[in-house]
Amino acid sequence: MDKFVINGGKPLEGEIEISGAKNEALPLTVASILTDDVSIISNISDLADLRSMISLLEVLGVKSEIKGNVLRIDPSGCDGYEAPYDLVRKMRASVYVLGALLGRLGRAKVSFPGGCVIGTRPIDLHLMGLEKLGARIKIEHGYIIADADKLVGTEIFLSGIHGPSVGATVNVMLAAVKAEGVTVIKEASCEPQITELADFLNSMGAKIEGAGTPVLIIHGVKELHGAKHEVIPDRIEAATYMIAGVITRGNLLIKNCIVKHLEAVIEKLREIGAEITYEDDGVRVKAKDPLKPVNIRTAPFPGFPTDVQPQIMSLLATVPGISVITEGVYPDRFIHVSELNRMGADIKVDNAVAVVKGVEKLSGAPVMASELRGGAGLVLAGLSAINQTVVSRVYHIDRGYESMEKKLANVGADIKRVSE
Ligand code: UD1
Repeated sequence: MDKFVINGGKPLEGEIEISGAKNEALPLTVASILTDDVSIISNISDLADLRSMISLLEVLGVKSEIKGNVLRIDPSGCDGYEAPYDLVRKMRASVYVLGALLGRLGRAKVSFPGGCVIGTRPIDLHLMGLEKLGARIKIEHGYIIADADKLVGTEIFLSGIHGPSVGATVNVMLAAVKAEGVTVIKEASCEPQITELADFLNSMGAKIEGAGTPVLIIHGVKELHGAKHEVIPDRIEAATYMIAGVITRGNLLIKNCIVKHLEAVIEKLREIGAEITYEDDGVRVKAKDPLKPVNIRTAPFPGFPTDVQPQIMSLLATVPGISVITEGVYPDRFIHVSELNRMGADIKVDNAVAVVKGVEKLSGAPVMASELRGGAGLVLAGLSAINQTVVSRVYHIDRGYESMEKKLANVGADIKRVSE
């Protein structure tokens, strides 16, 4: 298992290029199996999660090839319908194959993804949406077994107690594009990856309207064909490096990012006191003390992303004063707090609320990543801390960040990957 050894306290300066979005590449890769033709997805990142998805599709009979950052998918041999536990457990997005296999073969047997360290993460909305389309679903021995003689379009409300679900919207879209008639998804997720998935499916011959709004109208079609698509830059990676600039009181140009996907983060960083300006080829982030505490509530897009909550928490831990962070999406997503407190942070959690009492400086310590974004937050804390921080279990971070240590070292961080 690899770890990152970080000698913190250096302001980061220079340019960081953002890679293709993980959370878009995953559903696009799965959507490619809705035809027998080859599809080409470009600007993909070298990420463990994408490799896991490709391995899972391979088991179903899909051939894939990666050259540089271009993924070629040939689903013509995809006749398997069983997604085994060993592959599904690695990554929750594996559950997307449920909707896609129903759309392609009319049946699927997919391991139940279960809970994870950021909370229980149910899939009731996924199953409800697919059942409404006509799938018969039962749970047996840890597997979701689904089949449908035919899928028929209908009206589906997809919101749960924490708002719309990205994954349920993806799963229902993947099945509904091949259903008979019209499906109307109300309270659909508005995240950018849904808009990109709709664009990709439409270029495959689907008829989806309303992507990016809470109402999606899907006119089912009989056949889809292969398509080409370029993945957009990863907004969560961009936000992480913007915060790296602020937490180290540095000066970074974040290149290749889409500002309108980052507005909630940019607004909060400005409220904290960072100077953020737009340049021709990116967003410049500068910061120096004193910075101000803020209150944040995470929410579905266009709200402040839950996937940036641990990173901004690390930053606020270094801003004297009281900041309050409320988790509006995953009430239990605070596993990183105890590790930050080991670095001298003063954070108390009560239910879905974290009260962060900022300190002058964090101090380096051995800490452990337990999930992807929490791990990224610990790296940021290590970059700002006095002395050495060792972040272990970086395989969590590798799931969603391409060459994080190289990108950070290029802008002056003292960070090394060490194999244990
Ligand atoms: C996706 C992202 C993840 C991000 C999350 C929220 C991918 C691959 N992952 O995850 O990085 O943190 O969106 O922005 O894109 N819920 C239910 N029932 C369901 C499904 C979800 O109650 O059937 C709840 C969840 O527990 C959570 C909320 O809805 O409280 C949002 O979850 P959801 O949008 O589904 O997250 P994911 O798609 O799993």
